[in-house]
Amino acid sequence: MKPVASRVKAIQPSPTVRLGTLAKELQAKGERVENLSIGEPDFPTPAHIIEAAKRALDDVPMTKYVSSLGLRELREAIAEKSQRENGIPATADNVLVAPTKHCLFLAIMALVEPGDEVLMPDPGWVSYDPMTRLAGGRPVPVPAADEAGFLMTPDAIEEAITPRTKAVLVNSPSNPAGVVFSEDVFRGIADACRDHDLFLISDEIYEKIIYEGRHISPASLDGMFDRTITVHGFSKTYAMTGWRVGWLAAEKSLLKEIVKVQEQTITCVPGFVQRAARAALTGPTAPVEKMVAEFRARRDIASEELSRVPQLQAFRPGGAFYFFPRYDGGTPAHEVSERLLKEGHVAVTPGSAFGQLGEGHLRISYAASRETIRRGIRNIGAVLGKRSAR
Ligand SMILES: Cc1ncc(COP(=O)(O)O)c(C=O)c1O
Repeated sequence: MKPVASRVKAIQPSPTVRLGTLAKELQAKGERVENLSIGEPDFPTPAHIIEAAKRALDDVPMTKYVSSLGLRELREAIAEKSQRENGIPATADNVLVAPTKHCLFLAIMALVEPGDEVLMPDPGWVSYDPMTRLAGGRPVPVPAADEAGFLMTPDAIEEAITPRTKAVLVNSPSNPAGVVFSEDVFRGIADACRDHDLFLISDEIYEKIIYEGRHISPASLDGMFDRTITVHGFSKTYAMTGWRVGWLAAEKSLLKEIVKVQEQTITCVPGFVQRAARAALTGPTAPVEKMVAEFRARRDIASEELSRVPQLQAFRPGGAFYFFPRYDGGTPAHEVSERLLKEGHVAVTPGSAFGQLGEGHLRISYAASRETIRRGIRNIGAVLGKRSAR
């Protein structure tokens, strides 16, 4: 048999999914596992959103193919939100609806030529690198670890730029560190993009899950709308991970190219899902506020628990729902994570999944109950304490 394409061979299975699966297997055997590896809100989708989807299922066109760009009514709601909340000068004609992950893939596919370099944070979200490789591009990690306060600084970006650089990928609030980029940092990044004629892909999926600082959309900064693809989604804000819906906003001529990739791949997001997404954007905000308040309380619980584990040095996140502590010693993070699962019955994600500079860290998700957070971090402390006492 002939081999599969080398670009696929070069991609590793998603490590975040692997550990989550391992934890679920242990749970299925009846073992109690404190699962702190999950990247999705542990809340149900708010009822008014589910109701909107149910109603749409009885509306025949909503179960047929719909426009590849997305329903006009949803794109209008997204444009209105982008203008009002984010200062992004988008109209419905700048918006395309797709699952968030697919939005990132569409943006990369539309921009990246074989050999083009894409700057991305290290540590950064697990899919930026493989998506760039699938498009034939070269991922260029930009140091964004402890010393940099987990920020991709404008200076570090400047240093990484070469004549082959095509785009910069930013993510604030960030996964895995939960850092919120300031306006100053974004202004510096915007300057670098303008000076070197680069595109900016801004992944803003954690916008609403923010405790300190103010969310900045770089597309709102002077002259940046034309070169920025803003990517956003419903998964985290509205506990809608399984609905597979998000959006991107881009300058019109760019959007015209991007939509071709959508047309030739997934065609469209189901109409009834888009109706639900519209209900999410235009409906009551109380469920989101309640969820974020709970995440804030959990962050504080996790922070307190982590402060009692001397082997971990944790940065206090201003957004998203993750801690990304560094641990002592040189043991690879995947070994530490496996040991924690086997000896402490606690699932975390090895920091190395997020890039070379993520090595020596663990990603601890607090999208879990207060009880799970407390027990999980105590179990981590017990396993790490046992090791360092030897
Ligand atoms: C930073 C970041 N971007 C994008 C995504 C993809 O979101 P979705 O599952 O809605 O496609 C995730 C999901 O975990 C994420 O953490």
